[in-house]
Amino acid sequence: MRSPADSIILAIETSCDETSAAVVVKHGNIARILSNIVASQIKLHAKTGGVVPEVAAREHIKPIVPVVERALRDARAKLQDVDAVAVTYGPGLHTALSVGLETAKALSFTLGIPLIPVNHLHGHLASTWNNRAPKLPALCLIVSGGHTELVLIDRQRHIKLLGATRDDAAGEAFDKVAQLLQLGYPGGPAISKLAERGNPRAFDLPRPMLEHKNFDFSFAGLKTAIRYLVEHHYPKSYQLKATSSRADFCASFQAAVVDVLVAKTIRAAQQFKPREILLAGGVAANAQLRNRLATATKKLTWKPTYRQPPLALCTDNAGMIGLAAAYLTPAPKHSAWKTVDIQPTLSI
Ligand code: KG4
Ligand code: ZN
Repeated sequence: MRSPADSIILAIETSCDETSAAVVVKHGNIARILSNIVASQIKLHAKTGGVVPEVAAREHIKPIVPVVERALRDARAKLQDVDAVAVTYGPGLHTALSVGLETAKALSFTLGIPLIPVNHLHGHLASTWNNRAPKLPALCLIVSGGHTELVLIDRQRHIKLLGATRDDAAGEAFDKVAQLLQLGYPGGPAISKLAERGNPRAFDLPRPMLEHKNFDFSFAGLKTAIRYLVEHHYPKSYQLKATSSRADFCASFQAAVVDVLVAKTIRAAQQFKPREILLAGGVAANAQLRNRLATATKKLTWKPTYRQPPLALCTDNAGMIGLAAAYLTPAPKHSAWKTVDIQPTLSI
């Protein structure tokens, strides 16, 4: 039940290939998702093996209003109940972001309520806090199609970047390796499924930057290593499709990525001693990564809390944008709709 003290946030996310709207209620220091509707373009982009930005943008326009309407209906809320509109303004695809932001501006203007611009990456961070107050400082590993970042959120909720990928993001590496193995788009779910049947030690792959004493990552070399191995073992592409070693490639690749992600997160945890360790982003849906990071954090002596989002909050969704608006953004301004613009290259 909502009480009169609750504030209601309508959130919108269109930064890449999901058109999403959510209703989030904030009560004191806790925020909770009441509804979270996602219209995915995955089937469309599977045809081209990846996201074509102009196609993605066009495909946001039609569903945006019905998705907002459905989010309100599912939350049993009316437009007049909404206290603020939160929206992703970056990073993301130029025109795709514009569809969400302009919709949010129109709502903010016509309803006379504040607009809360949200950094998409803050959304991933907040995806672990549905119905729970953050315990700070928190360390978060964000792993998505566009980002691989280790981030520290201090007690004042300042967000500090500890390290990031120097080339491909983890999800991007999953997608590119899946393409090499003819597994279709998006690659992550296909690789993790096939990896269940493979031997993670079948191919001796590098663990990039594991020995470097920083918190940066690199995954492009791993993708190249797989390409050489595939070309060496299966010079004709039809040979690859028929073989059971595709599962071994998937398992070996996944093990290399997970080894590096877990080791660096634990090393950062040992240095900064956070109260919470968080895993977020599309690749946080990976079962191996979830299990390995959960197990590794349990062994830490000061017993930080480990949190990972439910699968529905791993990939892009507006629920996490509403949570970020509630937990991580300063008091919203009524006039923001006049000044806010998209920032496609916004960093954390
Ligand atoms: O967070 P997200 O929806 O979009 C970005 O903000 O980038 O992440 C999408 C990425 C894709 O690269 C996809 O292959 C990856 O998340 N992904 C996975 C899994 N499910 C999705 N990667 C590994 N294992 C999975 N189970
Ligand atoms: Zn994302």
